[in-house]
Amino acid sequence: MRLRDLLYGATVIIVTLLVWRISVNSFHIQERARDIQRIFSVHEISRVSTTTPAASPKCKLSKVCPIDHFAFQITSGAADVVGPQICFEGKIVMSGVINNVGPGINMVVVNGENGTVEKFSYLNMLIGKPEDILAFLKDIKPGMIVLVASFDDVTTKLTDEMREIFDALGSTMIKSIKHRDSWVFAGGAGTNEKSPFEKVAVSDPTSNIYEGWPEVVEIGGCFPRKI
Ligand SMILES: *[C@@H]1O[C@H](CO)[C@@H](O)[C@H](O)[C@H]1NC(C)=O
Repeated sequence: MRLRDLLYGATVIIVTLLVWRISVNSFHIQERARDIQRIFSVHEISRVSTTTPAASPKCKLSKVCPIDHFAFQITSGAADVVGPQICFEGKIVMSGVINNVGPGINMVVVNGENGTVEKFSYLNMLIGKPEDILAFLKDIKPGMIVLVASFDDVTTKLTDEMREIFDALGSTMIKSIKHRDSWVFAGGAGTNEKSPFEKVAVSDPTSNIYEGWPEVVEIGGCFPRKI
């Protein structure tokens, strides 16, 4: 009778100890499983973040533009020799190499909502017809983004009415641009906001770097999408 009690007691103790050990172990196993999961999920995240937005900057910018912006880069022509270049969202739309540039105002018009290039052309300010130039400018609808580069000379056929249109597109410098100045500009139609994207190199016979022409000017950046 006493022996049975003793055996019973010992068994209870052993079973209790076993159950306790198993539960402690399983707690450790759960912990380890959680650790392993954590390591894997970190791996998942780092794998995703390295593969998805590793896009390289467009138009040779130094950084990638935010999602609601368009990348652009504009270089003016050099004298009457090297054509200007206009890049939009990674694509060179106009350049001397493509051979679709000309003297005067080279201009790309883009839909500001979806980035579609609506049209591009050069307004020949040397021999163009003022009424054709005006018709092109007046056809730029609200919501469009314009990218502009000078080549050779901008002012020969440039009237005050044309200057007003560029002023309304956001240019602050068009009203003071003179014969043979280099000019690059990016603006938006229909907002009447002044654009931060503009640069002029004034033609000055005492400091011009090319014979009779000033230096090339260049701007690039991220133009906010019109939503
Ligand atoms: C962009 O919008 C214009 C005007 O709404 C439309 O004609 C053009 O097809 C659109 N382009 C794209 C790529 O969605």
